[in-house]
Formats: sequence, C-alpha cells, structure tokens
Amino acid sequence: MTATNANGLTSTDAWKSLSDHFEQIKDKHLRQWFAEDADRAKTFTVDAIGLTLDYSKNRINAETVQQLTRLAESAQLKQHIEAMFKGEKINVTERRAVLHTALRAPREAKIEFEGENIVPGVHEVLDKMSGFCSRVTDGRWKGHTGKPIRNVVNIGIGGSDLGPVMAYEALRHYSNRNLTLRYVSNVDGTDFFEATRDLDPAETLFIVSSKTFTTLETMTNARSARSWLLSGLGDDESAVAKHFVAVSTNAEKVKEFGIDTDNMFVFWDWVGGRYSMDAAIGLSTMLAIGPKHFRELLDGFHEMDQHFRTAPFDQNLPVIMGLLTVWYANFFGASTVAVLPYDQYLKRFPAYLQQLTMESNGKSTTLAGTRVDYDTSPIFWGEPGTNGQHSFYQLIHQGTHLIPCDFIAFVNSLNPRGSHQDYLVANVIAQGEALAMGKTQQQVKDEGTEAELIPHRVFEGNRPSNTLLIDRLTPAVLGKLIALYEHSVFVQGVIWQIDSFDQWGVELGKVLAQQIIPELQSTDSPLNHDSSTNQLIQRYRELKSS
Ligand code: F6P
Repeated sequence: MTATNANGLTSTDAWKSLSDHFEQIKDKHLRQWFAEDADRAKTFTVDAIGLTLDYSKNRINAETVQQLTRLAESAQLKQHIEAMFKGEKINVTERRAVLHTALRAPREAKIEFEGENIVPGVHEVLDKMSGFCSRVTDGRWKGHTGKPIRNVVNIGIGGSDLGPVMAYEALRHYSNRNLTLRYVSNVDGTDFFEATRDLDPAETLFIVSSKTFTTLETMTNARSARSWLLSGLGDDESAVAKHFVAVSTNAEKVKEFGIDTDNMFVFWDWVGGRYSMDAAIGLSTMLAIGPKHFRELLDGFHEMDQHFRTAPFDQNLPVIMGLLTVWYANFFGASTVAVLPYDQYLKRFPAYLQQLTMESNGKSTTLAGTRVDYDTSPIFWGEPGTNGQHSFYQLIHQGTHLIPCDFIAFVNSLNPRGSHQDYLVANVIAQGEALAMGKTQQQVKDEGTEAELIPHRVFEGNRPSNTLLIDRLTPAVLGKLIALYEHSVFVQGVIWQIDSFDQWGVELGKVLAQQIIPELQSTDSPLNHDSSTNQLIQRYRELKSS
C-alpha cells in the first residue's frame, strides 16, 4: 500500500483557496450568473485557431478562472508544457520522453531528442507512407495475382485501432470511395470473420499495426489473416509480401512474423500508443484520405500544439478545458464527462477519447509514489447528437448525477440537405440552454400543468456544459480537436501529479489471461485460482467439450 498524499496537492494554498471559493459559489445558479452579467457569454468565450469555445454555461465566475489559473501556475504547468515539448523524459515510470508533438511538426522544424533532430526522421516516414499510399491507390502496388488492391484491413487494438477508426469515420467525406477500409481489433473471431467474409484475398491488403508487435489480440488476428490470405491464394508464402505491411517500433518482431521490413513503417518509443494516430499508425487514415488531407490533419494538430504552448492560460483552449475538468471532478464530485458531438461523422470520437482520457489519467499513484487523496480522471463517455437526446439525456437533465457536457457542433454540414443542419444545430444549442437554465416550478405551473405533475416537469438546471462551435469538419479541424483533448488530458495530469503516459493498469489482466489460456485448453490441469475463477474455468471446460 502506498502512503497517502497528505502533503501534496490538497495542502497547497492554491487548492485550499479554491476549496474556499467553491464553498462560496457552489449553490449559485447559472440563471443568476447570466441575469447579473449581460457580458457573461462574451467574457467566457475564447475564439482561437478557428474554434469557438463558449464555456459561459459553467458554474464559474471570473474569480474561479483566476483561481484555477493560479492552481495551474502553482503546479508549474508552463514548465511542464515546455518539458514535454522539449523531449524531457516526463513519462517517468517508463523513463520515456513524450514527443507526439514532433509527429506533426513541419518539415523545417527542429526538435532535439538525445542530441539528434528527430523531425527529418518523422518526415522520412511520412514520405515513405505517402509513396506507398500513392502506389496502392493508383494501382501500381499489385497483389500476388497481379490485381490492384481494393480493400485495406487494419489489424490493431487500443491506440493502434481507435484513432485510425475514429479518423476514418470522421473524414469519410474526404476519403477515396473506391477503397474499402475495415478495422479488426477484437480477439473475438467474429470481428475478423465479419471484416473479411466478403473480401477477395487477391485484392486485400492487411496493415498489422502494433507498437510492440506482441499484443495478443493483434498477433492472433494477424496470424488468422495470413492463413485466410494463403488459403485464398493457393498457399504460396510469397503472397505475404504483397498483402501485408506492418506499422511498429519493433523491427525484430515484424521480421519474425514474416513481414519484410521494407514494408514496415516505423515510429518511436517516445510516441505513446494512444498518441500515435498521427504517426505511421495513421497509415490506413492516409490511404483513405490521401497524403494531402493527412498533412492537413497534421497541420491542425500542430496549430493546436502551438496554441497550447504559447497562449496565456485564460485564453488557452486545452488549459481552460483541462482546468474545468479538474473543477468538476474534484470540487463538485462529478465522476463523468459526456462528450456529445453533433456530427454523425464524429460517431467514434467519444470511444476514441475513452482511451485517451482514461488510460492516461485513470491513476491513483502520484509521481512521488504516494496514493492520491483526491479523484483523478472522470469517466468519459458519449454518443452523437441528436441520437443521445432520445436515450440518456433524460438522466443528464433530471437525474441525480452532475454530468458536465462537451457539445461539439458545426455550422456547415458536409452534406447539406434541406433544413437538416438548422434542426441539428437548434438541438445542440437548445440542450445547452435547457441544462443551464432549466425550468422552474413557477414556469411549469404557469403553463397550466396539473399540480401533481409539477414536480416531475421541473428542470433544476444549473447543469454545466461547454460548447465548441466550428465552421465545418475538415481534416485540420479534426487534428485541432484531437490535440485539444490530448493537451487537456495533459493539463489534468499535471494538476493531479500523475504520470499521464504510462498504463500499468492494463498489465495484470493480460498476465492472468496468459495463464488461463492453457488452462482453458486443457481438460484436467490443476486450477489454483480463487473458487470463483476456478469454477468459471471448469464450467468452460465442461461446456466446451459437451
Ligand atoms: O493494453 C493497452 C495497450 O498497451 C495500449 O496502451 C495500446 O495502445 C494497445 O495496448 C495496443 O498496443 P500495441 O500497439 O503495442 O499492439
């Protein structure tokens, strides 16, 4: 058991002063805040790099922002940001630098890591990816039987899957519709079966994406893909070279699997898995949208990086959003955040954010090795609007939990159709208003509602939200949005004094699964787990053989 963090964050003056401030304002209603200050919306809106963040529907006043900013200063956020950008080994438990920002740096930038400028290496890989993508899409890259590639299947999981899938869905509008993209992640054989059942092996290319090239799910799916391919192409091993490429940091394992390292796209151990969709892990994204759009995506990331590094805290989008997350998690006790994109193309964005936020900040040990005495990452979840409105929004409006919401909306649809966009945007604006303002008992009564129904029809309101309003969804905008959350997560991690870049919490289950696999495959090996685990293994054995 680690010691508790008795002398850490919660004992700082900045924290104590925020706690006092919270006590003073915690019951004040957003209705009142808005009534008192005609300029409130203007005061709490930041327009930067093409994004508008209206955060005025949060339970804050100017002093809250000052105090949160003071908290960030006392946590030396500025110094931490510089340490990350300069490649210091801020992932202390893995003794690694955290340089995903170098992946989107322009060609002429110079970022030194261990005495070497790493930007040329980044661009060398990007150039190799571009050359490869052009050869595949213009038909110069031929499959084993001489047919061009029409289907691409990315095999990967976690950071080697969620970012690429999300980006593929988000940027479908910009994608080459002649290419079929599929994603296989789950070790459940159904995932592989359904992704490949209607594909012709002669026209199919697999991208095996894995930072380590040891992940059980990915390697199992990659082996199944190889068997599927070979059985479809007459068991000729030489077909593998034309139908498999790899994305990894581990050349040895790639070679061992049988993929020619000429067909390998590298990245580096200073890129965390969940921060790798703009590294070679984005190969399937580049195949789908083309190198030019991929560069625009990277430029969007880079613009947000620059903004994060240079904007004053009270005008800094990731800093504001990160500090608000801390505000609700630690002072209001909000245990979740809903991310609600009002754009069908962003349907996988909340799922992507789940790994980014929760694998990063789902920690309970500080960098000093002590147990935190405060909450860390809230649970991130969400669905696109308006669908969610007809499902879980009831709870957000009238349930007992306080759920801060991030609404993401676009003014211009990529598929304009009649009044659809006006209806969509009217809904997102209405939700923010309803959550903040609610509906009083008097209002309900004045509508002529029967007395016994009044309590059911009251909306307390005072439920906070951010609204991001953006012109339209482009590759650059997607890059900005992702980097916004990446850096917001970073801000939270700095305040909470945790390592946002390791993920030791995923290890134990992996190790136990390796032990249980042979036990499931045996009929009588002795079982030494707890009685519940033993029973489940035993039941599986019995039903499997019956
Ligand atoms: O199990 C968690 C994890 O290590 C993630 O952090 C990572 O993104 C994922 O597994 C996949 O790892 P790899 O890219 O090495 O296959």
